[in-house]
Amino acid sequence: MPAVIVLGAQWGDEGKGKATDQIGQQTDLVVKYNGGNNAGHTVVVDGEKYALHLLPAGILSPGVTPIIGNGVVIDLEVLFQEIDEVSARGIDCSRLLISSAAHIIPSYNKVMDRSTEKFLGARQIGTTGRGIGPTYADKMNRIGIRIQDLFDPSILSQKVCGALVNKNHLLSGVYGLDPIDPDVVTAELLSYADRIRPMVADASLVVNDALDAGKTVLFEGGQATMLDIDHGTYPFVTSSNPTAGGALTGTGVGPTRIDRVVGVAKAYTTRVGEGPFPTELTDEVGDALRTKGGEFGVTTGRPRRTGWFDAVVVRYATRVNGLTDICLTKLDVLTGYEKIPVCVAYEVDGTRVDEMPLDQSSFHHAVPIYEELRGWSEDITDVTSFEDLPQAAQDYVHRLEEVSRCRISSIGVGPGREATIVRFPLLG
Ligand code: GDP
Ligand code: IMO
Ligand code: MG
Repeated sequence: MPAVIVLGAQWGDEGKGKATDQIGQQTDLVVKYNGGNNAGHTVVVDGEKYALHLLPAGILSPGVTPIIGNGVVIDLEVLFQEIDEVSARGIDCSRLLISSAAHIIPSYNKVMDRSTEKFLGARQIGTTGRGIGPTYADKMNRIGIRIQDLFDPSILSQKVCGALVNKNHLLSGVYGLDPIDPDVVTAELLSYADRIRPMVADASLVVNDALDAGKTVLFEGGQATMLDIDHGTYPFVTSSNPTAGGALTGTGVGPTRIDRVVGVAKAYTTRVGEGPFPTELTDEVGDALRTKGGEFGVTTGRPRRTGWFDAVVVRYATRVNGLTDICLTKLDVLTGYEKIPVCVAYEVDGTRVDEMPLDQSSFHHAVPIYEELRGWSEDITDVTSFEDLPQAAQDYVHRLEEVSRCRISSIGVGPGREATIVRFPLLG
């Protein structure tokens, strides 16, 4: 009865959607545990591309039960848009279950997100503007709106009014915007109640019952370790816990039930939004990597910042998540380089540092110490077994394994479901 967590080991967009879809085909349940429609997970099935934001990647595998856990924040308009779009392409969404304890992103939190960013000026985070931060803040502040509130109009109205008292002061008094009418927000939220009702479930009970019955469950993380509110490059992070612990609190499952924790890592590094990124390439080499890797955001279309593989980051991800396996993605993108630099440590103010620096300022000053590995020129996109990869590509993978301190169990050589070299099967 394996329970497998699949999460991002870098700054997001590592290919979690593809990995989840690929492993998820062999599982019974796929559960999302954090984030919201700040995520953009791409899955390519038979040449058809799906960009999923709120729906778990398991939605694309018939027979899998897709679940949105309590740790996710839901924009109802986006959820139903996505369900309609995917359904129109022949995908059955009637299997979807949603935790009654998941929080809703009310429209006012999208306004709050964009206004906060604007007023941060040069210190802005570069958020996706989807209302993620203010909604998690409301949750912690105990003024959030949950899915279950949709079924009690009086309570919902009281909660919306309560949440808007302070926000309207801020919007009109500080941000110079019109105050928001709580009745309009309440009516908008209530308009989704009947449609969502059949999907609402006690997700924790469903998942634990499934594990008791010997079924296989995959926990799909949004964002990534370095964007984690506790363990990432704070304040340039998202507002949830994408790390392994988040899979537990975000679904209502205990740590003793987890069998494998899989980190998804690109063979190089990318980042969207602001914040430190030691191996970033701001020159034409970085531009070429962006073009070659198609590194443009699935959610906002923003160009992703690009850089070489940072082993300090992935080693850190191995540690804070207790990774058992790494799914390495996009190795095909590195074909054609004579030498490939890999960052194995940093130099911070003249001193070598092998682990993530203790404080933010040091990380901002971190200069990568590179090891140069031999590249390869052969096309690897059709390779299906590790031994058939060029020797230099095999050596690259072996070295990443050493410096990341975790075995690399699969290697992506293309965006399609089938373009994966499995070295060690994660299930079975
Ligand atoms: P996620 O947010 O972690 O699910 O990743 P995204 O979907 O935002 O970005 C990953 C991109 O890389 C998508 O366009 C995928 O189709 C693509 N992709 C995933 N794995 C591979 C791979 O092994 N090779 C190539 N060339 N593309 C890949
Ligand atoms: P997936 O799941 C990459 C980044 C944003 C911004 C910061 C905070 O596709 O890997 P937020 O809107 O969450 O408050 O923004 O986090 N960010 C992501 N970057 N991939 C993602 O998701 C991201 N979700 C948020 O760019 O820097
Ligand atoms: Mg993404």
